[in-house]
Amino acid sequence: MSRVALVTGGTRGIGAAVSIALKNAGYRVAANYAGNEEKAKAFSEETGIPAFRWDVADYEACQAGIAEVEAALGPIEVLVNNAGVTRDAMFHKMTPQQWNEVININLTGLFNMTHPVWSGMRDRGFGRVVNISSINGQKGQMGQANYSAAKAGDLGFTKTLAQEGAAKGITVNAICPGYIGTEMVRAIPEKVLNERIIPQIPIGRLGEPEEVARCVVFLASDDAGFITGSTISANGGQFFV
Ligand code: CAA
Repeated sequence: MSRVALVTGGTRGIGAAVSIALKNAGYRVAANYAGNEEKAKAFSEETGIPAFRWDVADYEACQAGIAEVEAALGPIEVLVNNAGVTRDAMFHKMTPQQWNEVININLTGLFNMTHPVWSGMRDRGFGRVVNISSINGQKGQMGQANYSAAKAGDLGFTKTLAQEGAAKGITVNAICPGYIGTEMVRAIPEKVLNERIIPQIPIGRLGEPEEVARCVVFLASDDAGFITGSTISANGGQFFV
């Protein structure tokens, strides 16, 4: 029987590419989404991947959503924590709301999603958790005190859970995408993107969502069983750790 994978933020951007790549690799995939009903519906119709709506910032909603996915598809063996938002502003202009939204979704969301599936993975002696962090969690980024803090936190979370899960057959890894050609990156002011960011990418272009998705498929696979607590950087050479 094929494994069940759940991808948060799995109907758009990098998450959609991950959902599709996992489906193509033979997983039974569920895609979570937060709000864009129209996009989610179109995604499901196009791909045949069921979409489930809840907010990863809400612990109880995560518990209920995960129960719904497990009732439909079976126990979740692969969790991809991909859902994330930006609320960019220079720190002197950043509001508590911008800070809290990003921390609640991009960092606390990992707790909310992973905690309800963790015991099942421990009991079954198998699990794969892949956290989508960011280059900006590694290097910091002007305008992203909130996002960089959350994404750096995701890496600490990854390394701790890797240690706790290792003896139970659970691997926990992170991917740090660089600037990928999604709506999130296209929302950056064009002048900043073209004059400040793309020139800093040695490969000379934005990444493709599929280039991140292939990293997820690898980390989820049996072939990656000896890799845990690690970070794959997929950033076109923009930053080396
Ligand atoms: N790198 C270098 N310089 C930057 C920069 C960047 N990423 N972003 C802004 N700047 C510079 C601007 O060019 C500008 O410089 P000058 O005054 O010399 O022209 C200065 O900082 C102030 O910028 P703005 O005039 O745009 O000021 P603002 O207050 O209107 O907006 C901002 C500030 C919200 C940070 C806006 O510039 C912005 O959105 N920048 C992009 C920030 C960014 O890189 N976000 C990543 C989003 S994608 C993502 O998060 C996915 C991922 O994981 C990689």
